[in-house]
Amino acid sequence: MAFSQGAETPVRIAPSILAADFANLGEEVRAVAAAGADWIHIDVMDGHFVPNITIGPAVVKALRPHCDLPFDVHLMISPVDPMIEGFVEAGADIISLHPEAGPHLHRSLQTIRAHGKKAGVVLNPATPVSVIDNVMDMVDLILVMSVNPGFGGQAFIESQLEKISALRARIDNHMAGGGQHIDLEVDGGIDRVTAPRAIAAGANVLVAGTATFRGGPDSYADNITAMRAG
Ligand code: DX5
Ligand code: ZN
Repeated sequence: MAFSQGAETPVRIAPSILAADFANLGEEVRAVAAAGADWIHIDVMDGHFVPNITIGPAVVKALRPHCDLPFDVHLMISPVDPMIEGFVEAGADIISLHPEAGPHLHRSLQTIRAHGKKAGVVLNPATPVSVIDNVMDMVDLILVMSVNPGFGGQAFIESQLEKISALRARIDNHMAGGGQHIDLEVDGGIDRVTAPRAIAAGANVLVAGTATFRGGPDSYADNITAMRAG
Protein backbone atom coordinates (compact mmCIF):
# COMPACT_ATOMS: atom_id res chain seq x y z
CA MET A 1 0.00 0.00 0.00
CA ALA A 2 1.22 3.49 -0.82
CA PHE A 3 2.20 5.75 2.02
CA SER A 4 -0.61 8.13 2.79
CA GLN A 5 1.52 11.18 2.12
CA GLY A 6 1.77 10.11 -1.53
CA ALA A 7 -1.85 10.94 -2.24
CA GLU A 8 -2.05 14.09 -0.16
CA THR A 9 1.31 15.74 -0.55
CA PRO A 10 3.22 16.06 -3.81
CA VAL A 11 6.93 15.35 -3.72
CA ARG A 12 8.87 18.59 -3.45
CA ILE A 13 12.37 19.15 -4.73
CA ALA A 14 14.67 21.47 -2.81
CA PRO A 15 17.91 22.12 -4.72
CA SER A 16 20.83 22.71 -2.39
CA ILE A 17 22.71 25.73 -3.66
CA LEU A 18 25.85 24.28 -2.09
CA ALA A 19 26.37 22.68 -5.51
CA ALA A 20 25.59 25.87 -7.47
CA ASP A 21 28.11 28.26 -8.98
CA PHE A 22 28.93 30.44 -5.96
CA ALA A 23 30.17 33.24 -8.23
CA ASN A 24 26.72 33.37 -9.79
CA LEU A 25 24.26 32.53 -7.03
CA GLY A 26 21.43 34.91 -7.96
CA GLU A 27 21.26 33.56 -11.47
CA GLU A 28 21.53 29.97 -10.24
CA VAL A 29 18.58 30.42 -7.88
CA ARG A 30 16.50 31.94 -10.68
CA ALA A 31 17.46 29.10 -12.99
CA VAL A 32 16.41 26.29 -10.63
CA ALA A 33 13.19 28.15 -9.82
CA ALA A 34 12.41 28.36 -13.54
CA ALA A 35 13.32 24.68 -13.88
CA GLY A 36 10.61 23.64 -11.40
CA ALA A 37 12.22 23.67 -7.96
CA ASP A 38 9.80 23.91 -5.04
CA TRP A 39 12.06 25.21 -2.28
CA ILE A 40 15.60 26.57 -2.23
CA HIS A 41 17.75 24.67 0.27
CA ILE A 42 20.48 26.81 1.81
CA ASP A 43 23.25 25.04 3.73
CA VAL A 44 24.77 27.18 6.45
CA MET A 45 28.05 25.86 7.85
CA ASP A 46 30.38 27.40 10.39
CA GLY A 47 33.63 25.40 10.31
CA HIS A 48 32.93 24.36 13.90
CA PHE A 49 29.76 22.29 14.05
CA VAL A 50 30.74 20.89 10.65
CA PRO A 51 34.13 20.98 8.92
CA ASN A 52 33.21 23.49 6.21
CA ILE A 53 32.23 27.17 5.95
CA THR A 54 29.56 28.35 3.52
CA ILE A 55 26.81 30.95 3.67
CA GLY A 56 25.74 33.57 6.21
CA PRO A 57 22.69 35.81 6.56
CA ALA A 58 24.13 38.47 4.23
CA VAL A 59 24.10 36.04 1.32
CA VAL A 60 20.58 34.85 2.14
CA LYS A 61 19.45 38.47 2.18
CA ALA A 62 21.14 39.15 -1.15
CA LEU A 63 19.39 36.15 -2.72
CA ARG A 64 15.95 37.00 -1.41
CA PRO A 65 14.93 39.40 -4.23
CA HIS A 66 15.90 36.81 -6.84
CA CYS A 67 13.29 34.24 -5.92
CA ASP A 68 9.81 33.85 -4.44
CA LEU A 69 10.20 30.19 -3.49
CA PRO A 70 10.45 29.26 0.17
CA PHE A 71 14.00 29.51 1.50
CA ASP A 72 14.68 26.28 3.40
CA VAL A 73 17.62 27.22 5.61
CA HIS A 74 19.59 24.32 7.11
CA LEU A 75 21.70 25.58 9.98
CA MET A 76 24.84 23.55 10.70
CA ILE A 77 26.21 26.02 13.24
CA SER A 78 26.87 25.93 16.95
CA PRO A 79 25.80 27.63 19.10
CA VAL A 80 22.78 28.07 16.87
CA ASP A 81 20.50 30.25 19.01
CA PRO A 82 22.31 33.59 18.62
CA MET A 83 22.09 33.31 14.83
CA ILE A 84 18.41 32.45 14.39
CA GLU A 85 17.19 36.04 14.28
CA GLY A 86 19.73 36.99 11.64
CA PHE A 87 18.38 34.36 9.27
CA VAL A 88 14.80 35.38 10.02
CA GLU A 89 15.63 38.96 9.07
CA ALA A 90 17.52 37.82 5.99
CA GLY A 91 14.36 36.20 4.60
CA ALA A 92 14.40 32.54 5.64
CA ASP A 93 10.99 30.81 5.54
CA ILE A 94 11.92 27.47 7.10
CA ILE A 95 14.73 27.24 9.63
CA SER A 96 16.05 23.84 10.62
CA LEU A 97 18.60 23.02 13.26
CA HIS A 98 20.40 20.06 14.73
CA PRO A 99 19.54 19.14 18.35
CA GLU A 100 23.28 18.83 19.03
CA ALA A 101 23.81 22.50 18.09
CA GLY A 102 22.33 24.05 21.18
CA PRO A 103 21.44 23.25 24.78
CA HIS A 104 17.65 23.73 24.53
CA LEU A 105 16.00 22.32 21.43
CA HIS A 106 12.50 23.19 22.63
CA ARG A 107 13.47 26.81 23.22
CA SER A 108 15.19 27.09 19.83
CA LEU A 109 12.04 25.83 18.09
CA GLN A 110 9.94 28.26 20.12
CA THR A 111 12.19 31.10 18.97
CA ILE A 112 11.84 30.22 15.30
CA ARG A 113 8.07 29.90 15.53
CA ALA A 114 7.75 33.09 17.57
CA HIS A 115 9.20 34.86 14.54
CA GLY A 116 6.42 33.37 12.41
CA LYS A 117 8.75 30.99 10.57
CA LYS A 118 8.49 27.25 10.05
CA ALA A 119 10.75 25.21 12.32
CA GLY A 120 12.62 22.03 11.48
CA VAL A 121 14.69 19.47 13.37
CA VAL A 122 17.57 17.73 11.58
CA LEU A 123 18.61 14.19 12.48
CA ASN A 124 22.21 13.25 11.72
CA PRO A 125 22.78 9.67 10.58
CA ALA A 126 23.58 8.57 14.15
CA THR A 127 20.87 10.67 15.82
CA PRO A 128 17.93 8.53 16.95
CA VAL A 129 14.31 9.22 16.05
CA SER A 130 13.51 9.57 19.75
CA VAL A 131 15.09 13.04 19.78
CA ILE A 132 11.78 14.42 18.43
CA ASP A 133 9.58 12.54 20.92
CA ASN A 134 8.74 15.58 23.00
CA VAL A 135 8.74 18.26 20.30
CA MET A 136 6.43 16.71 17.70
CA ASP A 137 3.88 19.44 18.27
CA MET A 138 6.47 22.16 17.59
CA VAL A 139 7.96 21.14 14.26
CA ASP A 140 6.87 21.86 10.71
CA LEU A 141 9.64 19.76 9.22
CA ILE A 142 11.82 16.81 10.13
CA LEU A 143 14.99 16.50 8.06
CA VAL A 144 16.80 13.18 7.84
CA MET A 145 20.47 13.48 6.93
CA SER A 146 21.40 10.67 4.57
CA VAL A 147 25.06 11.79 4.68
CA ASN A 148 27.13 13.26 7.49
CA PRO A 149 26.69 17.03 7.25
CA GLY A 150 29.45 19.23 5.89
CA PHE A 151 29.84 18.51 2.20
CA GLY A 152 27.90 17.88 -0.97
CA GLY A 153 28.57 14.97 -3.28
CA GLN A 154 28.70 12.20 -0.66
CA ALA A 155 27.19 8.73 -1.00
CA PHE A 156 23.68 8.06 0.34
CA ILE A 157 23.72 6.18 3.66
CA GLU A 158 21.34 3.24 3.25
CA SER A 159 20.51 2.84 6.94
CA GLN A 160 18.61 6.12 6.86
CA LEU A 161 15.78 4.62 4.79
CA GLU A 162 14.59 2.73 7.83
CA LYS A 163 14.65 5.96 9.83
CA ILE A 164 12.60 7.72 7.16
CA SER A 165 9.99 4.93 7.31
CA ALA A 166 9.84 5.12 11.10
CA LEU A 167 9.38 8.88 10.96
CA ARG A 168 6.71 8.60 8.25
CA ALA A 169 4.72 6.31 10.50
CA ARG A 170 5.07 8.71 13.41
CA ILE A 171 4.15 11.73 11.36
CA ASP A 172 1.10 10.06 9.81
CA ASN A 173 -0.01 8.97 13.25
CA HIS A 174 0.50 12.49 14.58
CA MET A 175 -1.45 14.11 11.75
CA ALA A 176 -4.23 11.49 11.93
CA GLY A 177 -4.61 12.40 15.59
CA GLY A 178 -5.25 16.03 14.69
CA GLY A 179 -1.65 17.22 14.88
CA GLN A 180 -0.23 19.86 12.56
CA HIS A 181 1.22 19.08 9.14
CA ILE A 182 4.86 17.97 9.22
CA ASP A 183 7.04 17.62 6.14
CA LEU A 184 9.58 14.81 6.01
CA GLU A 185 12.70 15.86 4.13
CA VAL A 186 15.81 13.89 3.21
CA ASP A 187 19.20 15.47 2.52
CA GLY A 188 22.37 13.98 1.08
CA GLY A 189 23.22 11.72 -1.83
CA ILE A 190 19.82 12.12 -3.48
CA ASP A 191 19.82 11.45 -7.20
CA ARG A 192 17.66 9.64 -9.77
CA VAL A 193 18.47 6.30 -8.16
CA THR A 194 18.08 7.15 -4.48
CA ALA A 195 15.14 9.58 -4.90
CA PRO A 196 12.54 6.86 -5.56
CA ARG A 197 13.82 4.89 -2.59
CA ALA A 198 13.53 7.88 -0.28
CA ILE A 199 10.03 8.60 -1.58
CA ALA A 200 8.98 4.97 -1.13
CA ALA A 201 10.25 5.11 2.45
CA GLY A 202 8.01 8.12 3.07
CA ALA A 203 9.95 11.32 2.39
CA ASN A 204 7.97 14.11 0.72
CA VAL A 205 10.74 16.70 0.29
CA LEU A 206 14.03 15.82 -1.39
CA VAL A 207 17.13 17.98 -1.05
CA ALA A 208 19.48 17.55 -3.99
CA GLY A 209 22.62 19.52 -4.68
CA THR A 210 24.94 17.62 -6.99
CA ALA A 211 22.11 15.88 -8.83
CA THR A 212 20.23 19.14 -9.49
CA PHE A 213 23.15 21.23 -10.71
CA ARG A 214 24.88 18.48 -12.70
CA GLY A 215 25.22 19.40 -16.38
CA GLY A 216 24.60 23.14 -15.98
CA PRO A 217 21.44 25.23 -16.46
CA ASP A 218 20.22 23.38 -19.55
CA SER A 219 19.94 20.21 -17.47
CA TYR A 220 18.21 21.59 -14.36
CA ALA A 221 14.62 20.94 -15.50
CA ASP A 222 15.38 17.35 -16.54
CA ASN A 223 17.31 16.71 -13.35
CA ILE A 224 14.48 18.00 -11.16
CA THR A 225 11.74 16.21 -13.09
CA ALA A 226 13.60 12.90 -12.93
CA MET A 227 13.90 13.06 -9.15
CA ARG A 228 10.33 14.18 -8.59
CA ALA A 229 8.99 11.31 -10.71
CA GLY A 230 10.43 8.89 -8.17
C1 DX5 B 1 25.33 18.48 3.54
C2 DX5 B 1 24.19 19.36 3.12
C3 DX5 B 1 23.46 18.92 1.91
C4 DX5 B 1 24.28 18.83 0.68
C5 DX5 B 1 23.66 17.81 -0.21
O1 DX5 B 1 25.79 18.90 4.77
O2 DX5 B 1 23.24 19.46 4.16
O3 DX5 B 1 22.34 19.77 1.69
O4 DX5 B 1 24.40 20.02 -0.02
O5 DX5 B 1 24.47 17.65 -1.31
P1 DX5 B 1 24.30 16.45 -2.32
O6 DX5 B 1 22.90 16.52 -2.87
O7 DX5 B 1 25.34 16.72 -3.35
O8 DX5 B 1 24.52 15.19 -1.56
ZN1 ZN C 1 21.34 20.58 3.81
